[in-house]
Amino acid sequence: MATMESLIGLVNRIQRACTVLGDYGGEGMSLWEALPSVAVVGGQSSGKSSVLESVVGRDFLPRGSGIVTRRPLVLQLHKLDKGQSEYAEFLHAPKKRFTEFASVRREIQEETDRITGKTKQISNIPIHLSIYSPNVVNLTLIDLPGLTKVAVEGQPESIVEDIENMVRSYVEKPNCIILAISPANQDIATSDAIKLAREVDPAGERTFGVVTKLDLMDKGTNALDVLEGRSYRLQHPWVGIVNRSQADINKNVDMIAARRKEREYFETSPEYGHLSHKMGSEYLAKLLSKHLETVIRQRIPSIIALINKTIDELNAELDRIGRPIAVDSGAQLYTILEMCRAFDRVFKEHLD
Ligand code: GDP
Ligand code: NA
Ligand code: MG
Repeated sequence: MATMESLIGLVNRIQRACTVLGDYGGEGMSLWEALPSVAVVGGQSSGKSSVLESVVGRDFLPRGSGIVTRRPLVLQLHKLDKGQSEYAEFLHAPKKRFTEFASVRREIQEETDRITGKTKQISNIPIHLSIYSPNVVNLTLIDLPGLTKVAVEGQPESIVEDIENMVRSYVEKPNCIILAISPANQDIATSDAIKLAREVDPAGERTFGVVTKLDLMDKGTNALDVLEGRSYRLQHPWVGIVNRSQADINKNVDMIAARRKEREYFETSPEYGHLSHKMGSEYLAKLLSKHLETVIRQRIPSIIALINKTIDELNAELDRIGRPIAVDSGAQLYTILEMCRAFDRVFKEHLD
């Protein structure tokens, strides 16, 4: 029997295959849409990219004040066995293995600029990045441009709406798990993240509330009402986070030091000490991974049905093209057909 880890690994591979090969799911729900992913939503500079980096445990995303994330980034994490060396790969440069995370960040910036120019414009064409590492949990994460309230110099008037629509197009999918990021130094009740999450997920079933910048709150105030679920109730517990400050980024404080600092912050905090085991980036990563497994398990029967339908359609398509297949598209169909069958087998094992 396959482990849950390998099951999520397969989900990641199928998602990737569907992206490469286009949608063979026919009418209705596509394979891609049947599988869960996690999107990060929040206002500009609320700490979205920082949270994603912490969940991954590696420094590789462009971060900073202002509009830094200007294209969606679809990030697939693949857990490798202990001892295997980690690397990253972009869909737009499939043969190139990145082993330096600094160069991953540079490539994201350059690939962003390739579409948008060095402007403050945004594009809804996603960048696809895969990270293979022994130090990650298997997850698909989506980093998104921040929601804004006004256009700035160099941006079209429509940008506020454009960003909101782009973000909504990801989070309105019923299979999207929403990481709603709200900075603690702003009113959570008016948080852009919570507003959008509430709109697409009114019951709060697939929304995880994340409060960043706890270290930046005014003295004498705290976020306990939010973190303990009294201000705004969600089905899942709220998680408080302390990311690196801009000064930390400038000083190149690394991830390990940042996580240690975050842990110490919660353990020694007079306000949050009693919650310290349920706070922080590492806890959030575990929580997400566990939830993803639960969701996939619940979906197994409907995914099997969808895969069987896809197999039938692929077979029909192969019959139409005629076998044996020499052309590329036929070979690709065979590949995805084989993946669907492997996928189907693993799922069936899980049902037994
Ligand atoms: P994004 O625009 O939402 O992706 O936010 P970024 O992750 O790029 O962060 C924006 C700025 O806020 C950066 O300068 C970060 O260093 C800073 N920042 C993010 N989270 C925290 C936090 O928890 N504490 C502090 N002090 N600064 C943070
Ligand atoms: Na930012
Ligand atoms: Mg960002």
